[in-house]
Amino acid sequence: MEKLVISGGKALSGEVSVSGAKNAAVAIIPATILADSPCTLENVPCIKDVAVMFEIMTRMGAVIKQTGENTFYVDATGVNTTDVVFEEAGRMRASYYILGALLAKKGKACVRMPGGCFFGDRPMDQHIKGFSILGADCRFDDPKDCVSVFAEKGLKGGYIYMDVVSVGATINVMIAAVTAEGTTVIENAAREPHIVDVANFLNMMGANIKGAGTEVIKIKGVKELKGVNYSIIPDQIEAGTYIAAIAATHGKALVKNVIPKHLDSIIVKINEMGVKTSVGDNGDSIFVDAGGELKCCKVKTMPHPGFPTDMQPQFVALMAMATGTSHMRETVWECRFQYIEQLIKTGMDVKISGNKRDLLIIEGGKKLHGTDMQATDLRAGAAMIITALCADGVSTISNINYIERGYDRIVDKLKAMGADIDKKDF
Ligand code: UD1
Repeated sequence: MEKLVISGGKALSGEVSVSGAKNAAVAIIPATILADSPCTLENVPCIKDVAVMFEIMTRMGAVIKQTGENTFYVDATGVNTTDVVFEEAGRMRASYYILGALLAKKGKACVRMPGGCFFGDRPMDQHIKGFSILGADCRFDDPKDCVSVFAEKGLKGGYIYMDVVSVGATINVMIAAVTAEGTTVIENAAREPHIVDVANFLNMMGANIKGAGTEVIKIKGVKELKGVNYSIIPDQIEAGTYIAAIAATHGKALVKNVIPKHLDSIIVKINEMGVKTSVGDNGDSIFVDAGGELKCCKVKTMPHPGFPTDMQPQFVALMAMATGTSHMRETVWECRFQYIEQLIKTGMDVKISGNKRDLLIIEGGKKLHGTDMQATDLRAGAAMIITALCADGVSTISNINYIERGYDRIVDKLKAMGADIDKKDF
């Protein structure tokens, strides 16, 4: 079994370059199904979730070739099935985007439903609501663990008010509506940077989407989409993770290939904690200087432009290094604190509180010691790495497949900043 072995106590320094956005890539890759000619995708992160998505697409009939370190030729014109019931599809959450893409292109789809990180109930009712308003019939569990959608007479534009702000449902309905007849309006849409990235990709292919990045997205249906060359945006959460790691270790380092605007909610809190940050002259890097004392703070996760839930565990690891009592309230997922049991093994003082058990209280400044931890999900794994980098002595982290799902070459990147981290077989 492979584990990460980390000796803590070294301040991170030097520089790190952020890869392409995971959550944009896993939507853009299936969206290539809509194109009538091949696409070239640049700045694709080399992570397991992308590899699995490519595997699924290949099994569906697409031809995928790696043409550069992070560049892939994707020809989905040969996709010849609407039955995506094989095991790989159930391995990742984002396989739900295949439903939207096949529904638009072929008028039907049956997709094994999603795995991915477990943090509570992960319903798909808003995806289904959107598809139904566009004129699709949707069925669950036929066959088992699959969702089937049919629109044999084609999709028609409609007005969709999302009952909850959902990243996945907004993207999925946007993909499905691109070739629907007439106009679709998605109200109460999610506004994450990767929603704008997927919309930009679809628009470049010939779609007519306006308002992505706001609460109201308008999509005028078009007849056809062509293949394009597209570069995926940098990963906001990977950038935030390195910023938190540099800060927690009292380091000083440059985080390159970022869009600083996407990091506003993270930077505001980092600054509040006493960490200095400055944007580089080209506007695509942030220098993080955490030489001073770290102060406690209060954070509440919210849909974008609020503080991202996907930065919650990494920030808890950072808060543990600050002086005083910090609060972390999770409002997006109902069950995203399982990982704290692992962090507590290092001597961290963190407790679940609140009537809804949605609040973590972190008594910072305790001395942490190395221990054996098990990653419980992707971002929790990142929080364990940050904690191990700050603890005295050696830590090991198992279940690293969770971490490799979403972090491109994380061991190499941390090593280059001076961390004592290795992947070893046990
Ligand atoms: C995406 C991200 C995930 C991130 C999350 C929130 C991908 C592949 N994953 O997940 O990393 O944590 O956004 O930023 O992009 N909900 C419903 N009904 C639905 C859909 C969602 O009630 O049909 C609820 C969920 O239970 C949750 C909230 O809406 O409480 C947000 O979920 P959503 O934004 O859809 O998350 P994902 O797209 O699955």
